[in-house]
Amino acid sequence: MTTSNMAQQLREAKHVVVFTGAGASAESGIPTFRDALTGLWERFDPAHLATPQAFRADPSLCWGWYEWRRLKVIQAQPNGAHLAIAELANRVPKLTVVTQNVDDLHERAGSRDVIHLHGSLHSPRCIDCGQAHTLPLPTDALPEDGRRIEPPRCSACNGYVRPGVVWFGEMLPEDAWSAGLAAAQKCDVFLSIGTSGIVYPAAELPLRALGHGATVVHINPVRFDISGQEHFLEGPASVMMQSLLRETFGDHPIS
Ligand code: APR
Repeated sequence: MTTSNMAQQLREAKHVVVFTGAGASAESGIPTFRDALTGLWERFDPAHLATPQAFRADPSLCWGWYEWRRLKVIQAQPNGAHLAIAELANRVPKLTVVTQNVDDLHERAGSRDVIHLHGSLHSPRCIDCGQAHTLPLPTDALPEDGRRIEPPRCSACNGYVRPGVVWFGEMLPEDAWSAGLAAAQKCDVFLSIGTSGIVYPAAELPLRALGHGATVVHINPVRFDISGQEHFLEGPASVMMQSLLRETFGDHPIS
């Protein structure tokens, strides 16, 4: 499918779902999960950092990694894809953003009511009693040489505070999952942007949308196999989304 065929579908759409993965934030300088273990972190396996067992085994190492990611997000800005998605919401009758990302770049670009399937770096809670940790976390740079950071303690039970993200082996938040599923099953256009599509259950959403008759389009610079009913726009998220928006609604500045 070309962007001009896609533009026609978007002009007629009543409900668009935008489903994003790490690739949507890549152009903001946030490494995708599978590219994240660079520099200070190159010797580590994500499976050994992103599980409850990893946190219990070495809380300071795990917390240090997520603090490094959280500070990278604070220093980053939304990119052209985030901005185009927020703008698209003003142009179609209904748009739902469902993200696997744990950053807040969609919100900072202006998207509202974003469904976070995998939680957020910005909502830490106690690993033992679950109480939200509301004291502010640092916003300045981490020490150059330090990858280990002792997590804060819960004010209610003194347990360790953990990142508010969904780890491998954990359930997705029930309300986010059911809202994401409902949107996928009701939309007429489903844009899947910057996701490798290998982490379930999130990766089920494009299939559910397809099963309910939506036009499903994958946007990714790296081509992968899709069924004959799905579509692919090959290129970086910001370039493809900006040109799709221009093609659909004419020239207008996106800022
Ligand atoms: N534009 C669009 N896509 C891009 C770009 C870009 N500029 N750069 C990279 N990509 C694509 C990659 O080709 C890859 O397909 O983004 C995808 C990123 O894949 P992953 O790192 O696997 O990220 P994601 O699909 O979000 O992972 C799903 O798994 O790691 C866990 O919980 C974590 O939410 C994450 C989930």
